[in-house]
Formats: sequence, C-alpha cells, structure tokens
Amino acid sequence: MGTAASNTASHVDQVMLVILGISVVLFVGIMATMVFFVVKYSRKRQPRVANISHHTGLELVWTVIPVIIVLVMFWYGFVGYRVMRTGPDDALTVTVTGRMWSWLYSYENGIQATDMLRIPAGEPVKFVITSADVIHSFYVPAFRIKWDAIPGRKNQYFVTAEKTGTFDILCAEYCGLQHAYMVSKIQVMPKAEFEKWYAASAPKETKPAPAQAAASAPAADGRGAAVMADGRPAGSNATATAPAGGSASPAGKSKATAPGGKPVSPAPAAIPASSSGASPGDAALVAEGEKLMARYACSSCHSSDGSRLVGPTFKGLYGSSVTVLVDGKERTVRADEAYLEKSIREPNAEIVKGYQPLMPGQPNLTAEELKAMIAYIRSLK
Ligand code: CUA
Repeated sequence: MGTAASNTASHVDQVMLVILGISVVLFVGIMATMVFFVVKYSRKRQPRVANISHHTGLELVWTVIPVIIVLVMFWYGFVGYRVMRTGPDDALTVTVTGRMWSWLYSYENGIQATDMLRIPAGEPVKFVITSADVIHSFYVPAFRIKWDAIPGRKNQYFVTAEKTGTFDILCAEYCGLQHAYMVSKIQVMPKAEFEKWYAASAPKETKPAPAQAAASAPAADGRGAAVMADGRPAGSNATATAPAGGSASPAGKSKATAPGGKPVSPAPAAIPASSSGASPGDAALVAEGEKLMARYACSSCHSSDGSRLVGPTFKGLYGSSVTVLVDGKERTVRADEAYLEKSIREPNAEIVKGYQPLMPGQPNLTAEELKAMIAYIRSLK
C-alpha cells in the first residue's frame, strides 16, 4: 500500500484487508458447505439418520483452523498497534488537547495552534492525546488515526506521514453542542520547510515584549502617544471605527492622530500602565486579543455578534450589568475589567445566571494575554 498517507494508514488498511479477505473466504466456504449438505443429506437421499458421537479428526480440523485464522488476525493487528504505540524517544512531540470545541496543538518549543497541525513528512511524530474537559476522539481519516482524548490521561500515538499534503482532522466522539464543528487540518510539510516554520514560529523568550512594544514603542515617537492620549477622551469614537473598518488599524490610527496633533504630555501615556486596561482604541491590542480568543478557543463558546452559544456573548458585555450566581445566590455585578479578568482566570467562581459551569479555567494566561483579550471584549460594543 504505497499510496497510504502514513505508515499507520498502511498497517490499518492491511489489517482491514486481511480480515475482510478471511471473512469473505469463511462466508463463502460456510455457505457452500451448507448448500452442499442440504442437498446431500436431504430426506430423499438419506432417509435414515446416522448417530455420530464424535470424530476426532474433524474436531481437530475445526479447532486448529479457526485458531490459526484468529492468530493471523491478531498478528497483523498487533504489528500495526505496535507501530502506533511505540517510537523513538526523540520524535517530534505534539500535545493534542481536545476542548469543547476545538483541538489545541502544543509543540515542545511553545508553538500553539488550533487551526492547523503541522508536521514534517518522513519523520516519526509523537502525538500526546489528552482532553481538557470531556472525552473527545482525535480523528485523522487519512492517517487512520482515531484515538480517544480522555481528561486526566495522556495517550501516545506515533505516526510517520509518508506524503505531503493537507488532510482533515475531526472529532469522533460526541462531545456536546458543537461537536460537529470540532474540525481542523493537518498539514504534512517537506522536512526542511517544516523546520524553517518550526524555528520561525517559536514564541520569543521575552513574551511580554510584543505587548509592551505595542503599548510603549509608538509612544516614543510621539505619533503613537497621540493615539494613546487621544484614545482616552475619544475612546468611544475610536473603537466605533476600529472594528467596523476592515483595515482597522491604519484608518483608526490616522483618524486618532489628526485631532490629537496637539502636543501631548507624557502623563496620559502613563495611565494605561497603572490601570490594567488598554486604551480601547488600540487596534493592535484588539487584534491580538481576537487572535488569542481563537487560539484558546474562547470563540467556540462565546460569540462576538450577540448570539447565544454555550457561554454568554462578548458583544456589549463590557460595562454591562451581569447577574451571577455565587454559591447559589444571585448577585448583580458590573462587567468591568476586574470582573472579566476573574471570569477568565476562575470562570466557575461566579456563574452567569442561565449558563452552566463548563468553562475550563485559564490560570496560565500571561498578564499581557489577558490585557489583549479584555481589550478585544471591550471593542465589541
Ligand atoms: Cu470533541 Cu466531539
């Protein structure tokens, strides 16, 4: 089976064909024998019934042959199973985490992705398959992978992709409302190309740098400071234009800069640092937040357009009054930054009335990531 997409696929196909072949031979053989006996031993031909107590030779035949058949099936299955379950220790490892409702792919160097799982061709890859919530099943039809993702357990699966291309990934275990949308892709890349991508996409060591740069670097050249300073009083204005325009950032920026042409003191620029929130006009931060929402699959459960999914929508959330249940008692709180931050970090401390406590907590988000996510939520008026 040289046409299979992976080594595991050729093994699975082989087992399938062997078992199918045996089944066909057995079925045809049994049916033929039955027909033969019906004819040969009909009452017309054999009016007298013989009483046969046993026949050692026949008994051996019908014991030994099925044992051999079963062992052949076992052998093919075992060989294929061993290929899936064992591999070199230094194989590229990708942790595949099923979450309601998306797959998260985490590489050893810190790369995280949800939309595309990239692996090199011709190299063994080790998937560590687990789940953050309920049981999912990591299903890659082209590779014949269908492996359960179970919370609290790490299942190993080794595979060597044999041709480049892009293949489907699905979830094969019903896991709730959006189970059917738990789809993404696996891309098998030539080794050199993969290595280039792997090195280039690794998150930088100084993780806060990009967020800080976005906030403080523009301030240095004075032009960005105008955005900041202006973004504050003209906040609503800036955010209204930012998400509306497709090319939000240049449009929003020039708009904010024009009236902000007046001299800007460094003082207002310091405000965002003290109040954990970002200027609502900061389109880069909002865009970053939107990206993070996709990466952490927040958008699987929280819509940005007001429609109700598993969790409350983000649209109009910021600044609104929210009725939450704390230890079974209702309480009304204002959805400010502190509330949003707490709801992301420990979502089950206060549950919004009418929703289920289903969200996994995100205690490991960095302060910068939180800031970007909250900026994104703020931008959805
Ligand atoms: Cu995850 Cu179905």
